[in-house]
Amino acid sequence: MHKTARFTLDPAFTVGEVNPRVFGSFVEHLGRCVYTGIFEPDHPTADDKGLRQDVLDLVRELGVTAIRYPGGNFVSGYKWEDSVGPVEDRPRRLDLAWHSTESNRFGLSEYIDFLRKVGPQAEPMMAVNLGTRGVAEALELQEYANHPEGTALSDLRVSHGDKDPFGIRLWCLGNEMDGHWQTGHKTAEEYGRVAAETARAMRQQDPKVELVACGSSAQWMGTFAEWEATVLKETYDLVDHISLHAYYQPEDGDVDSFLASAVDMESFIENVVATCDHVGARLKSKKKINLSFDEWNVWYMHEGEVPQNEWPEAPRLLENSYRVMDAVVVGSLLIALLRHADRVTVACLAQLVNVIAPIMTEPGGPAWRQTTFFPFAQASKYGRGQVLDVRVDSPTYETKKYGETDLLHATAVRAEDGTVTVFAVNRSRTDALPLEVALHGLDLTQVVEHSALADADPDARNTLDAPERVTPHAVEGTTLTDGGLTAVLEPLSWNVIRLS
Ligand code: AHR
Repeated sequence: MHKTARFTLDPAFTVGEVNPRVFGSFVEHLGRCVYTGIFEPDHPTADDKGLRQDVLDLVRELGVTAIRYPGGNFVSGYKWEDSVGPVEDRPRRLDLAWHSTESNRFGLSEYIDFLRKVGPQAEPMMAVNLGTRGVAEALELQEYANHPEGTALSDLRVSHGDKDPFGIRLWCLGNEMDGHWQTGHKTAEEYGRVAAETARAMRQQDPKVELVACGSSAQWMGTFAEWEATVLKETYDLVDHISLHAYYQPEDGDVDSFLASAVDMESFIENVVATCDHVGARLKSKKKINLSFDEWNVWYMHEGEVPQNEWPEAPRLLENSYRVMDAVVVGSLLIALLRHADRVTVACLAQLVNVIAPIMTEPGGPAWRQTTFFPFAQASKYGRGQVLDVRVDSPTYETKKYGETDLLHATAVRAEDGTVTVFAVNRSRTDALPLEVALHGLDLTQVVEHSALADADPDARNTLDAPERVTPHAVEGTTLTDGGLTAVLEPLSWNVIRLS
C-alpha cells in the first residue's frame, strides 16, 4: 500500500462550468464506423432507415453529445453533394484518406436522422472540406443544410425529403491541415487565409454559426504553437475555437509513461491556451478563443493497417480491442479535460463505433461495450456542473517521459443540486492508494456509490465471445465522516465516488 494521497474540495474554488459538448464523439467514414457500425440496413435490429437499434441504444447509454462528422482525414476529399438525394443516384468514389471505396449509401440526411434518434442531447458538428475544396463549397453545404427554404440549395434539400433545416451550428474548418498526410495540406499562412475567408463568408450567411479552426494535428508536430499563432492571427475575430488532437499508446512497452498520458494532454491544453491568449493580447482583444479537443483517445496505431493495393468497401480498420489498462488511461484523459473545463468547451472521443471506439459490432451480429465505454459513460452522466479546483498532494512514481509523476490523478464536479462526484485514477500498477479528501463548505453526508474499473488482469477486455468480461464494480468501505472522505483506490483503477 502506498502512502496516502490527499486533496481538499471547497466550492469557493472552482475551475468552471462543464460544457456538455465536452462529452462529444466522432463518426468518420473510415473502416466500419458507419457501414456495419451505426448503419447496416440488413441487420436484424435495423430500422427503416438502416440504423442499428442495438448500436443506438449503446450510443444513448454512452451519453455522447456533439458528434463530429464526416471526418477526419476523410473530409479533405469529401464532396457533400455525393451524399445527398436518392441513394440509387449517389456515386461511388475513391476515398484517398483510407484507400477505400465510399458508396455514399449513408450521407448527410442519414447523419442528421441518426442524431435525432440518439436524442436531444446529440448535436451535429460538421466539418467542411478545406483540402480539395474551399469557400464556395462550404457555403453551398451550409445553405443546403441550414437555410429554411426558397433558394436553390435549400429547396433541393426539401425535394430530397428533408423539409426541416438541419440546424447545424458547430462547424470545423477542415481537418488537420498541417499534416502531410492530409489531402490538400497547407502551410499555416495558406490555411489561415482560407480558414479566415471561409469563416467570414459562413458568418455572412449566418452570424450565429460557431467555428473551429484547425490547430496542430498533435503537440509533437514540428510546427506546433507557431501554427496556432499564425492561424489565429488571421482568424481570431472570426472563429470561436481552435482544435487539438491527441492519441496515446505505450511506446516501446513503456506502460508507466502511457499511464501518465494525461500529463501530456494537460500540458498540450495549457500550451494552446497560452498561445491563444498571446495572440489575443497582441491583437488587444477581449475575446477568448476556446479549445475544441475534437480527437482524443488511446490508439494502437500499428493495428489495422490501411490497404495499399486495393480499394475495399468498409474494411476492418483501426479496430483496437481495449484493455482495462486502456480504460484507466481514457478515464485519466477525461479527468484532464474536466480539469480544464474553463477553456476546453468541446471534446470528441475518436471515434464512436468500431474504429478506435467504445462500441464494437459484428456485421449481422451483436454490439458490445469496450472497457473504455465505462469511464466515458460515467463521466458524461455524473460530470455535469461546476468543476472544483483539485490540487493533489500525492505519492509519486518515476516515468521515462514525464519524470516524477503523481500516482493520483483526480477531479471533482459539483452538480446543481449540490451533490459532488469525485473522479480519480490510481496509476500504480502494483499498489492500492489510500485517499483522503477534506471537504470544506460542502453539505455532504453520504457516499452514494464508489464504483471502480480495475481487474487482477490489466489486459482483460470485452470481446465478441465475452462481451461482459469487464464491467465496473462497487467498492465497499469508502466513508464520509467529520467532513472528510476516506477511500482506497485499487491498483490501476478508474474510480467514481458520488457524494450527496
Ligand atoms: O481518428 C482517426 C484519424 O486520426 C482522423 O481521420 C484524423 O483526423 C486523425 O489523424
